[in-house]
Amino acid sequence: MIRKAVLPVAGWGTRFLPATKAMPKEMFPIIDKPVIQFIVEELLEAGIENIIFITGRHKRPIEHHFDINTDLEKHLEEAGKDKVLENIKEISHMINPIYLRQKEQLGLGHAVLTAEPAVGNEPFLVSLGDIILEKGSEVVRGMVETFERFGKSVIALHEVDGREVSKYGIAKVKRIEDGIYIVEDLIEKPSPEEAPSNLAIVGRYVFTPKIFDMLRRTKPGKGGEIQLTDAMRLLLDEEVIYAYKVQTRVYDTGNPVDYLKTVFEFALRREDIRDELVPYLQEVISKQTQLIDRP
Ligand code: G1P
Repeated sequence: MIRKAVLPVAGWGTRFLPATKAMPKEMFPIIDKPVIQFIVEELLEAGIENIIFITGRHKRPIEHHFDINTDLEKHLEEAGKDKVLENIKEISHMINPIYLRQKEQLGLGHAVLTAEPAVGNEPFLVSLGDIILEKGSEVVRGMVETFERFGKSVIALHEVDGREVSKYGIAKVKRIEDGIYIVEDLIEKPSPEEAPSNLAIVGRYVFTPKIFDMLRRTKPGKGGEIQLTDAMRLLLDEEVIYAYKVQTRVYDTGNPVDYLKTVFEFALRREDIRDELVPYLQEVISKQTQLIDRP
């Protein structure tokens, strides 16, 4: 049984500096909901309630977000804003999280290893804060079912454009049935020439606890960081790793351009925003050249 999910949220968010100097990138809004709330909701809908955040000293707003804010509640109550109040209270009671500090930002692999005391000797999920999946809870459930069938680690993959491979961990796989593969090799952020396929790791993993032993043995890799992908490569020598192909849309919020694309898509789906946004965008696009020429 998978009962626990680890959410590594301690990264510096360097792709978004200076915005992330004092603000966690996981708190960036998709219109009015922070990215991290999407991830938490996905897990809850998939029936996983034990959430372990691997956090850092500059990430307190995440803790505040899932905590009770009595002053705000009082203010909303007095202002008669009942609907917002209801939503705010719901978020405060959404989870009973565990927060663990990653004292040094030594990489994603190191962050996952930090979770060991809270995870113990049982299989667990890892969800990365910068990827939102359409129908994410179905993906998580599918991964958990795959784990239950085979009893081994399962990673989520999706197809990316050939030029995008250098943004992700890339897998070489062998198909065993529709949507399920065996992982043969992995490489973290390869160049398009090095990439063995265009199947990218999309930030959802189910691990057997054996990954902790591998993480302890993992040397710094790409960017001088202890990479989760490198630990998985070590795991491949000891255990089979399965891959689960994500068929729904994948929204990356981990870099400025993809984040903006995600915000626009979510905005265009909202009736209260779409009616005003669509004509505005059409106008902007038609005047694009003028805009670019402006100082
Ligand atoms: C991490 C992983 C990478 C994965 C990606 C998904 O990279 O190291 O293998 O493909 O998340 O978002 P990051 O985006 O943290 O640099």
